[in-house]
Amino acid sequence: MAGSTLGTIFRITTWGESHGKGIGVVVDGCPAGLSLCEEDVQQMLDRRRPGQSKFTTQRSESDTVHILSGIFEGKTTGTPISMEVRNESQRSKDYSDIANYYRPGHADFTFDEKYGFRDYRGGGRSSGRETIGRVAAGAIAKKLLSEFGIEITAYSKEIGGIPIHSFNKEEIERNPFRMPDASAASKVAEYLKQKMAQRDSVGGIIECITTGMPTALGDPVFEKLDANLAKAILSIGAVKGFEIGDGFRAASACGSENNDAFRLKDGKPTKVTNHSGGVLGGISDGNELIFRAAIKPTPSIASTQQTVTKDGKEIEVNIKGRHDPIIVPRAVIVVEAMTALVLADALLLNMSSRIDYIKKIYSV
Ligand SMILES: Cc1cc2nc3c(=O)[nH]c(=O)nc-3n(C[C@H](O)[C@H](O)[C@H](O)COP(=O)(O)O)c2cc1C
Repeated sequence: MAGSTLGTIFRITTWGESHGKGIGVVVDGCPAGLSLCEEDVQQMLDRRRPGQSKFTTQRSESDTVHILSGIFEGKTTGTPISMEVRNESQRSKDYSDIANYYRPGHADFTFDEKYGFRDYRGGGRSSGRETIGRVAAGAIAKKLLSEFGIEITAYSKEIGGIPIHSFNKEEIERNPFRMPDASAASKVAEYLKQKMAQRDSVGGIIECITTGMPTALGDPVFEKLDANLAKAILSIGAVKGFEIGDGFRAASACGSENNDAFRLKDGKPTKVTNHSGGVLGGISDGNELIFRAAIKPTPSIASTQQTVTKDGKEIEVNIKGRHDPIIVPRAVIVVEAMTALVLADALLLNMSSRIDYIKKIYSV
């Protein structure tokens, strides 16, 4: 299967299926000398882990990471970093039905059309569990970026149509929805309880803000920073929309409203506003990077739905198995990870953009 690799210098390849022996990632191109231990990666995996509240899948696993290579005496060696998480709580019999029919909204039909054969257990490669490899690699990218003062924070901006009205960063990890507004989070809890009782699911919007951004990351044509972010974020299962800065609102604004004026701050050109979301012409402009991702409601729902079997019968199904009634809070961590991966790669790629940078490296 092609397409499991992302990045040019900071390059990851994820592997594994939901109900296989394990799941993981190989990170190649991480510079040598970065302090790194399993705990750095585990902390981020723990934030993604299921079973932490009644609003996530009850598949409960420790998701313990083992770093198999690429680290010596607490530092990266510059060689491939291979990481593995063993699957512990497979209940494959819950999924035996979906071998024969296509879950509406899931990848079963298209996967079969493409490959003619699939590991249907728990969604196989199309499972949310595939994001473990992304998050483990993203933890390393985040660590690398933090050396340069670049920090990424994602959170739920809206769930089931209920938006946040205030922003308290400390609140994000205090409620099960990763909302920076406690009052919005309690409204979501009530709404979601109703939807779960109706055997239904909901979606939402994740916002991601990166501070400490240098200028000059990204390239002007096919490797635009915003284009690469869009691809990385849209590659996460259930993400259906991406917008940067004012995004779709820019379409109805006038140029005079949408343009960010420049003034001098400490002698440097600085934007007064940030409608662009921190990228101009595909290149970071030094402002905060701000984008949003739209997440659809979890496709696997227990209420009755119409579908067809592989051998061509129309049937009605009630999907079994353990599913997230809402994907958004867990996807927040995946969004942070994918952002870190794109930025780490752009940071390293930018080092070769100018002859003076290259001369500095080689002390010419
Ligand atoms: C962290 C995470 C958890 C997910 N959990 C579930 C789940 O429990 N049940 C489910 O049906 N889909 C879940 N998904 C979504 C499916 O993987 C996704 O909708 C499916 O592969 C179809 O792809 P598409 O929605 O991008 O078209 C999850 C996705 C992510 C990122």
